[in-house]
Amino acid sequence: MRFKSQKIAYWYFAVCILLIALQITYGFIMGFARIGMDGLHDYIPFNAARATHTNLLVVWLLTGFMGAAYYIIPEESDRELHMPQLAWLQLISWVVVGVTAIIGFHFNWWEGRKFLEIPRPLDYLVVVNVLLFLYIIGMTVWNAKKHSTTQLVLFFGLFAAALLYLPGMIYFDNHMLDSYFRWWVVHLWVEGVWELIMGAVLSFLLIKLTGVDREVIEKWLYVIVGLTFLSGILGTGHHYYWIGSPKYWLMVGGIFSALEPLAFLAMAIWAINMYRKKGREHPNKLALYWTLGCAIMSFVGAGFLGFAHTWPQVNKWTHGTLITAMHGHMAFWGAYAMLVIAIMIYALPQLTGRKLFDNLSGYLSFWMANVGMVGMTSAFAVAGITQVYLERKLGMDFLTVQKEIQVHFIGMMLAASVFTCGMLLFIWNFIRHGRPSDEALVTTGD
Ligand code: HEM
Ligand code: HEM
Ligand SMILES: [Fe+2]
Repeated sequence: MRFKSQKIAYWYFAVCILLIALQITYGFIMGFARIGMDGLHDYIPFNAARATHTNLLVVWLLTGFMGAAYYIIPEESDRELHMPQLAWLQLISWVVVGVTAIIGFHFNWWEGRKFLEIPRPLDYLVVVNVLLFLYIIGMTVWNAKKHSTTQLVLFFGLFAAALLYLPGMIYFDNHMLDSYFRWWVVHLWVEGVWELIMGAVLSFLLIKLTGVDREVIEKWLYVIVGLTFLSGILGTGHHYYWIGSPKYWLMVGGIFSALEPLAFLAMAIWAINMYRKKGREHPNKLALYWTLGCAIMSFVGAGFLGFAHTWPQVNKWTHGTLITAMHGHMAFWGAYAMLVIAIMIYALPQLTGRKLFDNLSGYLSFWMANVGMVGMTSAFAVAGITQVYLERKLGMDFLTVQKEIQVHFIGMMLAASVFTCGMLLFIWNFIRHGRPSDEALVTTGD
């Protein structure tokens, strides 16, 4: 690390780790419920567990993005963070809002809109918190000694993500309109502006890890931003098929969302090409594993598995089934979870001065988490295909079908256990690095 204020990133990452552990716990609560072991039902019913699992995911990813920004922005701007004490205040208030929301879910205090369940009063606090975050990184970029494409794309991605939170806060008494704008948040985040954050963080990591010229790496970033906007904005239409929107969305949504995998494909080709061109061997090979892994697995989960159900002809059968859960797991994992883990694994040795990357447990955690996630995704796929066939093709009753597919959740839980072992190893390695220290300060930021 080159600047003292970058140390705050460590604490964002530490919170992130805690939330990951909690998210996985709620995954297991649902998994057990799915195989009939629902002893916690009176205290944590499935809907509360589901809202907690998915919201914790979003919150830990956002915490990871913030940590990444607090690490990357000073380095790319060649200066300390603007008012780093405020970043502490932001972290504490962020945690308070998050914990309140999660506790609230367990007492039925929620909005019931998938992914945007956080109650309205807390939404306002989120807005204040994010404004504080944008102020800190915005002022750092504004007063930067130098500007880079990576830095500007990262800032713009975070800024646009904050802006796109607002359509989810408009009050409608019409369900269709509410659904219409809910997708501005959910879809335009993961298939729009979060991709800019992803491109920028990958660009930063590739510059550091491959030693290829910044100009070459950043040129690709423009291509990715272009492909994302070209496909992602009108691609929102793939969520408008069945909610009562005009019919033309079938065509517009189908065509443009089918182009969305191109942005993910470009990221995968980019990362692999830069790796092959690499000018030097960076000692932190594990960070390279996660970086390349993120670019490749995001193409599989978001690009390939998204494409699989994006056409209206397919989606009319698969909509809202476990096929969606199959895609949701692998897409979030590949694109955003692996991204946050990649930047953590790169930054930790820099922040703490302890270079513990080259050890077996690190590689084991990478492979176990990924093999486990592939297994979980496959189990969801088999359950989902069976569900579509029995429920929608043969017209069997919803609950009868849920009982039929119960067996696939045993496989899902076995794979989830492998995944969890991988994640526990990752968490153990995180803890082993210890706290950030000023002794880790260096003059060049490699
Ligand atoms: C990293 C990027 C992506 C992530 C994290 C992601 C995640 C998700 C999640 C969580 C859902 C469920 C949303 C809900 O019901 O509220 C969903 C739905 C969907 N996604 Fe993605 N996705 C990504 C990219 C893509 C891409 C590139 C495509 C198309 C090529 C796609 C196609 C779809 C479709 C068609 C649905 C609707 C499923 C249904 O009708 O139930 N996704 N995605
Ligand atoms: C041990 C680990 C995990 C287990 C056992 C687990 C299990 C589950 C279960 C049972 C559901 C509900 C599916 C249903 O409606 O029946 C679910 C939903 C979901 N999980 Fe996980 N999960 C785990 C980890 C993860 C991770 C690491 C991610 C992201 C990287 C993730 C992302 C999601 C998403 C996005 C949904 C909502 C899918 C949708 O919109 O349909 N989960 N999970
Ligand atoms: Fe979408």
